[in-house]
Parts: sequence; C-alpha cells; structure tokens
Amino acid sequence: MTDTTNDAQREYWSGRSARGWITYEAEQDAVLAPVAEAVLARAGLLPGERVLDIGCGTGALSVSAARVVGARGHVLACDISEPFLARAAERLAAHPHAVTLAADAATVDWPEPGFDAAISRFGVMFFADPPAAFANISRALLPGGRIVFAAWASAARNPFWSLPARISAERLGHPPKTPPDTPGPMGLADLDLAVERLRAGGLQQVTGEEIEVTLTHPEGAGGLAALLARVGPASRTLNHFNADEGDRRAVTEAITEAFGAWESPAGLALPARINLLTAVRD
Ligand SMILES: C[S@@+](CC[C@H](N)C(=O)[O-])C[C@H]1O[C@@H](n2cnc3c(N)ncnc32)[C@H](O)[C@@H]1O
Repeated sequence: MTDTTNDAQREYWSGRSARGWITYEAEQDAVLAPVAEAVLARAGLLPGERVLDIGCGTGALSVSAARVVGARGHVLACDISEPFLARAAERLAAHPHAVTLAADAATVDWPEPGFDAAISRFGVMFFADPPAAFANISRALLPGGRIVFAAWASAARNPFWSLPARISAERLGHPPKTPPDTPGPMGLADLDLAVERLRAGGLQQVTGEEIEVTLTHPEGAGGLAALLARVGPASRTLNHFNADEGDRRAVTEAITEAFGAWESPAGLALPARINLLTAVRD
C-alpha cells in the first residue's frame, strides 16, 4: 500500500541526513545560493509582506526573506525536522519578525494563515501526496497569494547529481533504485507532472520553467566533490555500502577530476538545471 503519510521523511530528515546538512550548512548554502537568489527574484517579495518558507531546513532562504520583507513583514519558517528547525531558530534570532513552525506542511492546520507568498528552495519534493500537500499550502495563503518553489530538474541533466552517482556506483555498485515519481530530491523533476500536481492542488496560473543556474564552491571542484561525498549524491551510495576511507578517497578524487571539466582559474562554474514553479491562490 502506498504510504500516504510523511513519517518516513520526518525520520529521514531528523537523523543522519540532518546532522550532515547542519554540519556542512555553510558550504551547502554557498553552493545553493544561486537557487535561493532565483526563488527570491521570482517571488518579488516586498517590504511588509508575510512569507511562508516551506521545508526551510536550517533557514538560509528564511533569513534572506526576512531581510527583504523587513521588520514590518513576517516570515514563518516551516519544517518537519526538529533538528533543522532548532538551527533555523538560531539563525532567525536576529530577525524577531521571523519564527519557526515544526509541522508537516502537507497536513498542518496553519496556526496563522494569511500569507502573501509561499516560497521554497528544495523543500517541496518530499510529499507522499503532492496535490494534497499543495492544496494545504495554498490554504495558508491570502486570495491572490503566490507560490514560488525551486525543485531539481532531471538528474540526467544535472552533473551535480549524475556524476557523483555514476562514479560512486562504478566503485561500489548501485544502491537500491528509488522508484520514479516517489518523494525524494527528484520528486518534481518532471516539469509537466509538477505543473499538473500544483493544478491538482487547486492552484491557478501555474507555470513551470526549467532554468539554468551556475553552482560554485569556495574550494572549487575538490571542495564540491568532498561535500557531495558527505551529503547528497555520492554519500547515499558510500553510506549504503559502508564504504571505507580508501573508497571514499577514491570516489572523491574521481568526482574532483570529473568536475574539473567546469573549473577555470576563476573557480568552479557547474551548470545546474532547476525547475522553477509558480502559482497563485484564487
Ligand atoms: C533538501 S532540504 C532543503 C532545506 C532548505 N530549504 C534549504 O534549501 O537549505 C529539504 C527540507 O524539506 C523538509 N521537509 C520534507 N518534507 C517536509 C514536509 N512534509 N513538511 C515540511 N518540511 C518538509 C526537510 O525536513 C528538509 O529540511
């Protein structure tokens, strides 16, 4: 039977994965900064607006939104993971008009609806029942309120995902396949399906656009390879096969070499494809 709850995701994002993300938060935020910028640019937030950040993680996008809407505005940073929220609360402490909410965005009865906008960087691909989740998120919005969500486009067009996955599998073997169209980083990778799901959630004026952003890392190809061996693409395979230090080093070196194709003296400039989804509540 299909799991219609998000309990597995709560567990996943509260365990090892959350610890990894929190440990490498500064690096993750540096790498994913262009995605946050794309969401904020498309959302066009205004001073004084009320903003909901879905799946806020450790709060990078919430902090940026809090700066834009200013003290007359309000930000509610929602996440299903307590460890992430604890960290987000620390970061938001400097912005008293921004608060956290520990809740499953798919089902929560919003304690304070009436938002002008719901935004997310990679926090909306994990719902067991996406149309129901989007319908619930829209209930938090004012009529005319807008949604701007960023999700990964297909892994095949994202070397960020495809290279670490291929290289780690070549060394260790393939971890169990995740069936397509299930909650996970690629949960909204099919743009047409993603648009359909927002529409099925009752949203209006739904648009989906695949955009390109350029990812970088302060320490270049080697820095990004080392990060992805600890969190995300390669780490799943390495952890599944309990890789030893030798395997981890070999995989990291091979990913560094592969990412080197996008490195110049100016630094790493890795192209990434992102699905930017927008919609409006009636
Ligand atoms: C890939 S992380 C992105 C975190 C953050 N938005 C960022 O970009 O740094 C996905 C986040 O979605 C959250 N999440 C997953 N399912 C959720 C749900 N049903 N309700 C609220 N948050 C959820 C996870 O706990 C995690 O923090």
